[in-house]
Amino acid sequence: MYLAISKGRILEESLKLLERLNIKCEESPMDSRKLIFRTNDKNIKIIIVRASDVPTYVESGKVDMGIVGKDTLLEKNSNDLLRLKDLEIAKCRLVIAGKKGVSLVSNMKIATKYPTITQKYFQSQGLPCTILKLYGSIELAAVLGMTDAVVDLVETGNTLKENGLSELKIIENISSYLVVNKTSYRFNKEYIDKFISKIS
Ligand code: PRP
Repeated sequence: MYLAISKGRILEESLKLLERLNIKCEESPMDSRKLIFRTNDKNIKIIIVRASDVPTYVESGKVDMGIVGKDTLLEKNSNDLLRLKDLEIAKCRLVIAGKKGVSLVSNMKIATKYPTITQKYFQSQGLPCTILKLYGSIELAAVLGMTDAVVDLVETGNTLKENGLSELKIIENISSYLVVNKTSYRFNKEYIDKFISKIS
C-alpha cells in the first residue's frame, strides 16, 4: 500500500509517529530527492507530495492512505475520503491576523492560501470580503498594506510576532488526519484497522 505524506512539518512528525509503530523508511525522505520510499514493513511504501495534492492522490485510488492537515481537507472539501483518525500531530491554528487593532468589518481585503475556508468564514459572519490568493509568505500582504488582513496558519506565533502582526481571530484548530481511499479500505480493512489501533 502507498501512504502519501506532505513535505515540511507534517513529514517530520509523521516519520516520528511511524517510527513509534516500528515503521522506518529504508532511506530518509528528509535528505533525499526520491519520491517513493520503501519501508521495513513490506505492506507500506511512502510517497512524498505537496500538502494540497495528498487528497487528490488518495481520491484517485492509486494511493491508499495519506497524512494530511485538516486545513487542506477543509479547503479541498475532500468528502470522498475516509477520515479515519485524528493523528494529533502538526498541531496549529488557522487564524485571521493583521496589524494590531484592526477590526473585522465588511468589505475587507484578505490575503490567503485558503480562499474557500476564508470565503465561507467571512460569509458565516455576514461580512462580505475580497480575497487575494497567495502561495507563501502570506503575512507580507498585511505588513505592506496590500490587504487589510491575512488568513494563515499559526504554530508558534513567531512569524506574526517577528513581522509585527497580531492574531485577530481563530477560525479553526488544525491537526493532521489519516485519510484512506474508500475502496482501498474495503480491500485492506484488516491491515488498516490494525495500523490505526497501534497508533491509539
Ligand atoms: C507557515 C505559515 C506561517 C508560519 C507559521 O508558513 O504559513 O507563515 O508557518 O508558523 P509560526 O507560527 O510557527 O511562525 P511556512 O513556513 O509553511 O511557509 P509559507 O509562508 O511558504 O507558507
